[in-house]
Amino acid sequence: MKRSLVRQAVERMHAYAPGEQPREPGFIKLNTNENPYPPSAAIQEVLQRPFDRLRLYPDPLCMDLRVELARLHGRRPEQVFVGNGSDEVLALCVRAFVERTGSVGYFEPSYSLYPVLATAEELAVRPVPLNSDFSWAMPAEYAASLFFLTTPNAPTGVQYPRETVREFCAHFPGVVVLDEAYVDFAREHFMDLALEFDNVLVARSFSKSYSLAGLRVGYVVGAEPLIGALFKIKDSYNVDRLAQEIALAAVLDQKHMRRNVECIQMSREHTAATLRERGFDVGPSESNFLWVKPPRRPAAEWHAALREQRILVRHFPGKQIGAYLRITIGTESEMTALLDALNAGPI
Ligand SMILES: Cc1ncc(COP(=O)(O)O)c(C=O)c1O
Repeated sequence: MKRSLVRQAVERMHAYAPGEQPREPGFIKLNTNENPYPPSAAIQEVLQRPFDRLRLYPDPLCMDLRVELARLHGRRPEQVFVGNGSDEVLALCVRAFVERTGSVGYFEPSYSLYPVLATAEELAVRPVPLNSDFSWAMPAEYAASLFFLTTPNAPTGVQYPRETVREFCAHFPGVVVLDEAYVDFAREHFMDLALEFDNVLVARSFSKSYSLAGLRVGYVVGAEPLIGALFKIKDSYNVDRLAQEIALAAVLDQKHMRRNVECIQMSREHTAATLRERGFDVGPSESNFLWVKPPRRPAAEWHAALREQRILVRHFPGKQIGAYLRITIGTESEMTALLDALNAGPI
């Protein structure tokens, strides 16, 4: 038999399946939790600077951006690590904090990238099924080397109670990464836990609240020994020069980000109420998306019917989650188009 040139673990594993990015124009995209509003206008100035500086490698330490992020969160730059999207930060956490014999934990359902990152490193996974209403469920004596705690969770939008999260962090034997990619849309954040506990990191993304999914910048805040470990194993220049400059301009314009977030929160509540009136089961969301169980027909049929009308929402196959759709909150007119299309959907 012909010898495979690819590692067996990689041959066997399933790749992460990103949401559809249509190549043709004309779709209303409510499928990948992007922000429907433009990023800060301050970014325009960065793009107009002379491009000769691109000859030079970027700052490998991302210092200007880390100083500003540290200021924003009341930390020191040594407690901040910046990556090529928070996805890179999560991948580095798996590589830095889990021994070969260790394991990676996460809730099920949550971000489907976590098992992919663990499997690629040939690590054991220890998923924890949530309750049927997607609320917190943790077996007694649970342990893993690293736990990805997504809060608010994706794809459900659920934010877990502070005391429950705090208790978990206090007793978990390994590193807890609080994945707060959506936290700017929530009522509260848990950044303080990264200061209180030396095993807790808080990961954030520029892709959602800052409207910069196309840029690829994310970061993590936590104790210096953990942050130092990430620096040891990162690519030399993991965040490119433009990304560092643009992210800095975005962070300095908190007012713009907050305004967009408020629009999305208002639209989220209005859309949720309207869908409930129409018989959809809508979970409590503290994110920029809704997790809904449509009435009468299977979710897959609603998904297909909406696609016919050039509206993309996300459907994840699966026994429990297959009954739901994840709908990103778009602009007001996009949400009106969605509600109109649902009226015309399979009834
Ligand atoms: C829970 C969660 N964490 C992290 C990410 C990745 O974010 P980034 O675009 O910063 O890599 C996503 C993206 O959808 C996500 O849903």
